[in-house]
Amino acid sequence: MSLNVYKANIITSKNYDELNVFKNAYLAERDGIVEYVGSDLPDEYKEEKLTDYGNMIMIPAFSDLHIHASQYVERGVGMDSLLFDWLNNYTFPQEAGFRDIGYARKIYPQLIRDLLRQGTMHAAFFTTIHYDSCDLFFRMLGESGMYAYSGKINMDQNSPDYYVEETERSIEDTERFIAEHLDLYPHVKPIVIPRFAPTCSEKLLKGLGRIVEEYDVGLHTHLVESRAEAAFAKECYPQYLSDGDIYEQTGLMAGSGPKIFAHVIFPGEVEERLLRKYDAVSVHCPDSTTNITAGIMPVSDLRAKDLKIALGSDIGGGHFAGIYRQIARSVQLSKMKEFYEEDYKRITFKNAFYLATAAGGEVFGRTGKLEKGYAFNALVIDDMQDEGYTVETEEALERFCYAGDDRNIKARYLDGRLIDPDEIYERIKKL
Ligand code: GUN
Ligand code: FE
Repeated sequence: MSLNVYKANIITSKNYDELNVFKNAYLAERDGIVEYVGSDLPDEYKEEKLTDYGNMIMIPAFSDLHIHASQYVERGVGMDSLLFDWLNNYTFPQEAGFRDIGYARKIYPQLIRDLLRQGTMHAAFFTTIHYDSCDLFFRMLGESGMYAYSGKINMDQNSPDYYVEETERSIEDTERFIAEHLDLYPHVKPIVIPRFAPTCSEKLLKGLGRIVEEYDVGLHTHLVESRAEAAFAKECYPQYLSDGDIYEQTGLMAGSGPKIFAHVIFPGEVEERLLRKYDAVSVHCPDSTTNITAGIMPVSDLRAKDLKIALGSDIGGGHFAGIYRQIARSVQLSKMKEFYEEDYKRITFKNAFYLATAAGGEVFGRTGKLEKGYAFNALVIDDMQDEGYTVETEEALERFCYAGDDRNIKARYLDGRLIDPDEIYERIKKL
């Protein structure tokens, strides 16, 4: 049994609109679970060893709900192209390299190390179609201690001949992947990941739908990402109402695992109905949808309809692993949307911080808040002060999200343990 007490300026979301800010406050953690947060130190903890972080800020660790692990090494490259050119010229050729497990062994540990450096401890990943590389990545995630959803992706049409699956094999490999990884780790779980409707035949989607139902797992895919993508999906599936209808009719939303949809920029009535019916999470990836000119997610409209939203980096559509920068970017883009669209209402910094912590964390269990009963997955961030000018605690957090980086993250706790991303990197690259 372990019990630890910390002192810092603790910030955690109270709800979508409000923060709880505890200045010079205490947090007690027992066996990886937060037991107490408050301004006074209760008597029962007075004899315990105290780690005092002074004027630094302690926040919940971040969640990235949509990231292509297989695109980490192409981040920031080819960013002046549009989605389909980018996929064909950069992404498909690069992802095809994961047919070689040696390539996966080189790339994936760097990604996991860098996510942990940037404070992301919970993530939902895309990978590639290759069973062995996906299996290796899954085990690396498990050994790293991260909380994650991962699996193998599916593509059996509208894909280059060097990077495509045969339908039956795709279904068989997915079923084997889910079966073999379901109980491997407590915090890393398999999920079904059809790349997006256009790269999957109806037979494949229905096969995956059966797996979802049989193994009761979740779904992670792209949904109404851009006008071009939604039109392409409709062209491939004229007998269905829209992108969302395809995923529902083929049975992909039938499991009790999370339903995670990237982008959701142009949701129609069908999508809104399904998002609500299945309690799905729409993932806002503002850097990515800027880079691939997909548009801006209507965050406040979806929130006003009580739909769930979280943030994602969508690397390599996005170019940076730190989700804190997506907090800043989602505020920026919402202001642009308000500027151009009379009826649109921008979001606040507090709203965006909630999306990156509490809302995203909820998908992984009791994570994303520093509250009694939650996992002690937390970051300690320096006070972001300049000489001669003082910012308040909340302002320091905002400054970190806009102008800070991993050098400002002074400590990282995962399940109560102080972690070193470089040590984890050295360990998992030997798997
Ligand atoms: N749609 C289908 N594949 C992809 C991808 O790899 N990235 C993005 N952003 N959109 C996609
Ligand atoms: Fe994506």
